[in-house]
Amino acid sequence: MHASSRSIVTNQSGPHEDLSRRVARALANPLRKPVAEHTRTAFEAASEWLEARSHMPLVLDAGCGVGLSTRRLAAHFPDSAVIGVDRSESRLNREHGTLPDNALLVRADLVDFWRLALADGWKPARHYLLYPNPYPKASHLKMRWQGHPVLPVILALGGRLELRSNWKLYVEEFALAVTQATGREAEVLRHEPGDDFLTPFEQKYHESGQPLWKLVVELPHAPGLVRLAASIASR
Ligand SMILES: C[S@@+](CC[C@H](N)C(=O)[O-])C[C@H]1O[C@@H](n2cnc3c(N)ncnc32)[C@H](O)[C@@H]1O
Repeated sequence: MHASSRSIVTNQSGPHEDLSRRVARALANPLRKPVAEHTRTAFEAASEWLEARSHMPLVLDAGCGVGLSTRRLAAHFPDSAVIGVDRSESRLNREHGTLPDNALLVRADLVDFWRLALADGWKPARHYLLYPNPYPKASHLKMRWQGHPVLPVILALGGRLELRSNWKLYVEEFALAVTQATGREAEVLRHEPGDDFLTPFEQKYHESGQPLWKLVVELPHAPGLVRLAASIASR
């Protein structure tokens, strides 16, 4: 892989001034967008797979890209059931060897998948958001997970949530949003991967000389954080 990734360029000088208003709005107004049929079908297949491993702690790898992190997490946590979710078919279809028995790759839109998972009572023990798309322009706040209406669902699932990014401000904003929504403090830390890369983006950014950032927070399973729209729970 070429290590020539450009650093983030943004027109923001600090956390977005609209962040807190957007988080408050997401908490007050549950997302009512209908769930896409393809994600419902993919979720049902994933649920069946998970049901067969109901004795195993669940690890979610949200936005898993080509699924290398899903494989690595499955090797690292052999007694857990690891599910990688990404909407990109071309990424998921790249050949990276046989999946271990405790790993599953799912093509789905996370906005829908997370809502279905919460409605179905999923309680991930660990939840990874590894190098999400930064959307660095200020006008793109609503596309970052911390500015998105689905944020309360991500947090309500609970477990040990870990976010990594090459853009410190993304992690700082996410930390502010976590605290506003849950009251939990989440420290922004430098991430030093050494030679042990969890994802291709991590490797690319690190080998380009960019500093990496992370946040880890333990969250309770708190479905009450979201007033689920009735359309999610029923067909
Ligand atoms: C920057 S890539 C990082 C991929 C991988 N985690 C890594 O670090 O190598 C972000 C990934 O999130 C996926 N993604 C973004 N929004 C998504 C959504 N709403 N649902 C599912 N996947 C999404 C993209 O398809 C892409 O693979």
